[in-house]
Amino acid sequence: MSSKIKLAIMASGGGSNADKICSYFSHHYNIEVALIISNRKNAGVLTIAEKYDIEDIYIDKATWDNVEAVKGILTDYQIDYIILAGFLKLIPYDIIQHWRDKIINIHPSLLPKFGGKDMYGLNVHNAVKAAKEKTSGMTIHLVNEEYDKGEILFQATCHIEPDMTPEDIAKNVLILEHLHYSPTIENFVLMRLNTIAKN
Ligand code: GRF
Repeated sequence: MSSKIKLAIMASGGGSNADKICSYFSHHYNIEVALIISNRKNAGVLTIAEKYDIEDIYIDKATWDNVEAVKGILTDYQIDYIILAGFLKLIPYDIIQHWRDKIINIHPSLLPKFGGKDMYGLNVHNAVKAAKEKTSGMTIHLVNEEYDKGEILFQATCHIEPDMTPEDIAKNVLILEHLHYSPTIENFVLMRLNTIAKN
């Protein structure tokens, strides 16, 4: 195994963010995507794994409910950071404990607004539209025990015109996600590395 810092991406859907992250780190000197995990057998993200020749694992419900098994997989691959990219399952407490401040998520709104349970996908943008918000955006944050409440690492904003539909908002927010997720992960991981090296 290489000595690079290892990321595992967890995703349930199409994986457009996973695609950008895999591409960004494909020739990185210090960080690599070592594993892609999905909880859905036919998730688009598994084809991304193939595209970049990255190992992928489908975790079925029974395995997901067995925290030790999930921990075992992540440990076997020597995963340092877990990157959530549209992963619709709650991360078990034991995993959060073990990878404390090493699990990063992206959310398609300006948290703390429009976060929490059931706030995913178009639900978020419908709620933003219904609230007549003038701006929306995305938030990259650490994962703790509470949905969408971990420390915020980075936010970016986009303007909402009155005639924009929730789908239009979603498109603009996704552009921001693609632009910012990988460099934010990189900055965070490398900053941590420097902090550890100094101590
Ligand atoms: C993104 O909007 C992200 O903010 C949310 O899930 C979506 C994943 O989209 N957590 P994709 O599968 O990366 O296209």
